[in-house]
This record gives sequence, C-alpha cells and structure tokens, in this order.
Amino acid sequence: MSLTVTPIRPDFGAEVSGLDLSAPQNPDIKRELNALLARYAVLVFRDQSLSPPQFMAAAENFGELMDQQLKKYVLPDYPMVGCNSTDDLPRKNGKLQVRGENYHTDHSNERCPPKATTLHALQVPPSGGDTQFVDVRQAYDDLPTTLKEKIRNLYSLHVHQSSRSPRELTKLSPEDLAKIPTALQPLVIKHPGSGRPALYLNTGRMEGIDGMDPDQGYALIEDLYRRATHTRYEYRHKWRVGDMVIWDNQAVMHQANADYDPEQKRFLYRLMIKGVALTPALA
Ligand SMILES: [Fe+2]
Repeated sequence: MSLTVTPIRPDFGAEVSGLDLSAPQNPDIKRELNALLARYAVLVFRDQSLSPPQFMAAAENFGELMDQQLKKYVLPDYPMVGCNSTDDLPRKNGKLQVRGENYHTDHSNERCPPKATTLHALQVPPSGGDTQFVDVRQAYDDLPTTLKEKIRNLYSLHVHQSSRSPRELTKLSPEDLAKIPTALQPLVIKHPGSGRPALYLNTGRMEGIDGMDPDQGYALIEDLYRRATHTRYEYRHKWRVGDMVIWDNQAVMHQANADYDPEQKRFLYRLMIKGVALTPALA
C-alpha cells in the first residue's frame, strides 16, 4: 500500500490517504508517518473507522501513549482514551463551554509535554465545532530580527492556570492541584524532528516571563500571541465522521470552537503521545 500525501499548505498540514489505520503498519510506513508529522505538523486521515483499541494502535504509530490528565473525561473501559463529548460540557446562557477554546499547546506545564495529540471523530454537528491550528514555526520565522533576538533566551513558567488566563481551565480540588506539575519552558523551542525553531506559547498557563517585570512580560506574551494567531498561519479543520487528525504540539497551537448547536452531538476520542523535555532553539 502506498501513501498519497496532499499538502494543505506547502509545509503546513497534509491529508494522507491510502492507509487503513485499523490495520498494523510496517516499520517503513511508521517512519514515513513520523517524518510527515515532523514536516507538516498536522496530518489528516479521512474515512477511518476505529474502535478504541484500534485508535490506540493507530496512535502508537507515532510513539508511546500518554495518560489523560482529566480522568473524568475518559472511556470507562479504556482509560487511556479521552473523549470530547457535547454531553460533558457545561452551558452558560444556552452556549456551550468548550475546553480548549483559545489557542494553546497541550499540557505545557509538564516538563515533558505530549509530542502529539490526536482526535478521531465519531459524531460531528452539521456545522461548527471546527478545530483551528496555527503554525508557530512560520510565525517565529516571520518575526522581526530584533524581536527574535529579544526573546531567544527567555523562559516562562507554565502552571495549571495562569493568574491572567483568558479562560477558566477545568477546576481542580486542592489535592489534585497539588499533583499538577509546573515547568519553566523556553519561549523559542527547537523541534526534535525537523530542527525548526518555533514559538512556545500558552496564554492559559504562562505565568509571565522569567526575570521580567510582570506587566512587561505579559505584554510581550500578548504581542507574540497576537502575531502567532494571525489567520495567515491558520489551518481550520472541518470535521467529518471518520476523521483522525494528529498534530504536533511543538509546531502548532490549536483551539476548539463552541459555535455549534448544543442540541447537536459532537463526540471524538482523544489520545496523546508522550514527548520529551523541550529544547531551547539556541542552546
Ligand atoms: Fe488542547
């Protein structure tokens, strides 16, 4: 079986066809898939039909599975598999409150954040509920040289929820919160696969810039975030039932959308792949 790769942009996002992900893949295909993920950062596989164990095996083509942090949103029989379901979402004034509704990279407060996250769509609303991605490698490349020099040695402490988070993250009990790690992360990272530098931002979790006046630190984060989330860096994925989409957390930020009818069911499985400690771009 040979893969067909259709890039969405020249080096950002690709649709991969010619592969049945419910079947085991040989080492050559696994290598190719990982090389494609390192290059394109978001891979889209259409028309898959994966049971939870098949989805786990499909994700394992990209590495070892990582435990879900929020245990209340997992499949009872397969606790490694998280689920994003309309039924679990609170509503405020008739509008859904969606987890992940501002651009972020997953679990950036872990010393080793997940290499990748993947979703498999089982039910999707007729409209809305897209997932947006921005290419934070290209966003870094396009920064003015002076700004690149200013930020290249900076770090930020990532915590469960920043004191200036633009959204409220899932509330945790004091015991659970005490178990959540914090991590000092470089503002500019180097991708372990492609070697490309990228911005590493997560406004929900970043507690300013290390060693910088808080107001100046948050202003710098806001400026970088505004630049990185420009639509010129965006791929907006419109879900179809059967899609499996995997993205590289060291190359993109992503966000969910709560813009669909709360009466329409949206249900996706979610898995994460273990990652390594981040490398600063200029180390
Ligand atoms: Fe997320």
